[in-house]
Amino acid sequence: MVEKLQKIWLDGEMVDWDAANVHVLTHSLHYGLGAFEGIRAYQRADGKTYVFRLREHVDRLFDSCKMILLVPKFDKAQVMSACVDLLRVNGMTDGYLRPMVFVGEGAMGIYAPQNPVRTTVIAWKWGAYLGEEALKHGIRAKISSFARHHINISLAKAKMMGQYTNSVLAKREAKLGGYDEAILLDANGFVSEGSGENLFIVKKGVLHTPDLSSSILEGITRDTVITLAREQGLEVREGRITRDQLWLADEAFLTGTAAEITPVREVDDRAIGTGTVGPVTKRLQDAFFDVVRGSDTSHAAWLTPV
Ligand SMILES: Cc1ncc(COP(=O)(O)O)c(C=O)c1O
Repeated sequence: MVEKLQKIWLDGEMVDWDAANVHVLTHSLHYGLGAFEGIRAYQRADGKTYVFRLREHVDRLFDSCKMILLVPKFDKAQVMSACVDLLRVNGMTDGYLRPMVFVGEGAMGIYAPQNPVRTTVIAWKWGAYLGEEALKHGIRAKISSFARHHINISLAKAKMMGQYTNSVLAKREAKLGGYDEAILLDANGFVSEGSGENLFIVKKGVLHTPDLSSSILEGITRDTVITLAREQGLEVREGRITRDQLWLADEAFLTGTAAEITPVREVDDRAIGTGTVGPVTKRLQDAFFDVVRGSDTSHAAWLTPV
């Protein structure tokens, strides 16, 4: 359950948590057209709170809107300020932010270009998405029977609301089967990503991750990990990965704003490497947490003070 906070930002106003309601005729509720983001803010070692890669998340929100032909009434600077202000008014030191652009009520047909385009930002407290145990010891994943959307069926590069039925179905299937997370293949049968995370494997000291043509969301944590890995002198290759390459990896992990860097210790009942958290994963996890909540200041441009 999300813990109730004081305020939600809705169409330019800070409204009371319980008053931030929409009508059941809200167009996006029926047809799923809308875009959203997931952003984290962390209290760092200096005691201050920073939003991690706010600019990149808001850029992706506007890119998603561009792809689905929605024009938000607020500009990027206003959405960024809303995120920071919301953390302040709710007195949050750590938190998750959910900006969302959606189509309001009006016409009810599929084609409703005159309906209002609404914008909200919600904040809530969110610990480790897959659990603290998962961060420390890794998760058990299953290749899903659901594939990621074919590139001409949906828009993998858009963080688009309706697209997430695919993720929800895959996640439910995995959980009902006793696994922690689903890994989806793309429509060509190559490894794509988790239900809400990008995927990396380590093989013979090289980091591999599916390339951008494999129906993945272009994850901001994925980019963070690629940057940190290269800074550590690791070779990173983006390309096709097959299911059996995943099974035979030395290490595997998932990345995402919610999931952060979560090791994968087992896929389809096969242990990955030694079945524990591998040394490369651990090193990257440590580097990541040092940047987001520790004292590493070498990526100050990624941090927006609250
Ligand atoms: C389907 C999907 N893939 C990957 C990611 C990871 O993206 P990011 O690291 O930008 O949060 C997410 C989460 O936003 C996602 O929903």
